[in-house]
Amino acid sequence: MSKSAPFVWLDGKLVPWAEATIHVATEAVLRGENVFEGIRAYWSEKHQQLFAFRHADHIARLRQGAKIMRMWIPYTDAEIEAASLDLLRACGYRGQVHYRPVAYFDFGNLTDYLPDEIRTGFFILAFEMPTTKSVREGIRSCVSTWRRNSDLASPSRVKAGSNYHNSRLAYVEARLNGFGVPVMLNAAGKVAEGPGSCFMMVRKGQLITPPITADILESITRETLIELARNELGLPVVERDIDRSELYICDEAFFCGSGHEVTPVNSIDHYDVGEGRPGPITRRIQQLYFDVVEGDVPKYRHWLTPVYA
Ligand SMILES: Cc1ncc(COP(=O)(O)O)c(C=O)c1O
Repeated sequence: MSKSAPFVWLDGKLVPWAEATIHVATEAVLRGENVFEGIRAYWSEKHQQLFAFRHADHIARLRQGAKIMRMWIPYTDAEIEAASLDLLRACGYRGQVHYRPVAYFDFGNLTDYLPDEIRTGFFILAFEMPTTKSVREGIRSCVSTWRRNSDLASPSRVKAGSNYHNSRLAYVEARLNGFGVPVMLNAAGKVAEGPGSCFMMVRKGQLITPPITADILESITRETLIELARNELGLPVVERDIDRSELYICDEAFFCGSGHEVTPVNSIDHYDVGEGRPGPITRRIQQLYFDVVEGDVPKYRHWLTPVYA
């Protein structure tokens, strides 16, 4: 097993990793019926503190997704926060951490059950997840032949486990072809996002990113970077459709997300992005993002939840 942790928070209590099991006959297992979040917590040596980044905003998005899926979450926001912090403390993390609150359906009756006819379970996983080489050095990207899930079928706005079959198809294809994270187009043929992150590019001094109606997840990192770019770097930010051919002539590009942080894109479909290495605006955004998440920018401390007392 590649990932493990001392504890998992499962249905109301902390349990040792090996005891965190659910039945094979649950809807969660049979049909991938869950809605989840991926949140990072950053350890700051300087502040000797682990900071959860925008926890409350992630839980708000979890509730939004659950509402669309007609799923009822059996815990309050305060209970989910307390459970998350308990888990992080119990695991004793002092490093970069990714934690995942997951609401899942238990035993169902075919697929037509209403929310009050099925138990909704809840668990939280937390893993150490250091920043990758891709974030430091950038990646070679491509345009996936797979389209992002359409809002008309399985909304990408919902962070549902089952949507990640679509993501995996795109990731695996890109990897087999020798690329890193691919760009996924939506059914209209416009840029949507990566399979696990949002997409931004720089053209003629503007930061450009697809709108939230482009079949993307309403990413919290995307929202964060838009605010930081506008308010701290004075960059014009435009939310608009992006054509495939624009990818080949942009000056800079990067993926952004809790997991992928700010991952520079050095080339797309073998076209160099700018000079074929992480660009200056991307580097400034990256630096600012890390300063904010590690608690070094007082103005944005309200986005951080200290884990240790
Ligand atoms: C499909 C997809 N898009 C975008 C994102 C970025 O979202 P966030 O910034 O909230 O982590 C993610 C991250 O989990 C994702 O899975």
